Amino acid sequence: MASSPIAPWEKKAFAASVFGLGLTGVAQMPIFSRYYIADIPGFAWLGDFVFTHMLHYALAAVFLYFAFRFAATYVLAGRRDHPLTASGAVRVAVYAALIVTGAVRMVKNLSWVYMGEWPVLVVDWTHLFLAMVLLGAVLWARGGDRRRYTALSRR
Ligand code: HEM
Repeated sequence: MASSPIAPWEKKAFAASVFGLGLTGVAQMPIFSRYYIADIPGFAWLGDFVFTHMLHYALAAVFLYFAFRFAATYVLAGRRDHPLTASGAVRVAVYAALIVTGAVRMVKNLSWVYMGEWPVLVVDWTHLFLAMVLLGAVLWARGGDRRRYTALSRR
């Protein structure tokens, strides 16, 4: 089998950025101070929604780097021979929609932009809903063959 052009550490870094985005995203809601998790020694930063907001942006930059690197590698290295599996296609679609809604949320946060109440609410809930769908998809695909993005990719 041809060796993957993606190094194992890159997959781990991508997974870590996704975990961090989920954590810092939920932290901004702000759930962790409400349910006293931020009171646990070492977890106070989870209750600071300005800090977790900045961390979400920094992690989004890391996430975007790897997402586009993987996408470019896939497109350039034999896409026709390696179609996405169903579980791979679902995850790619959810990541793409998270990127679009996240980018709209970033634009909304600019001080000179006013989008109106309904579009802001819809994008906010869609981003949150997609994060929950992603959690379900990742848990569903966590073992065995479902973990593969393509039929030939390593798990
Ligand atoms: C795996 C990818 C991601 C996950 C799991 C995730 C998760 C979340 C969650 C759970 C929230 C809080 C709920 C909400 O307000 O909608 C949130 C907020 C947000 N996310 Fe993401 N996100 C991801 C990627 C991104 C990306 C790529 C961007 C930017 C391009 C982004 C930008 C934002 C912004 C701007 C907010 C709202 C911050 C605020 O104004 O308070 N997210 N995210």
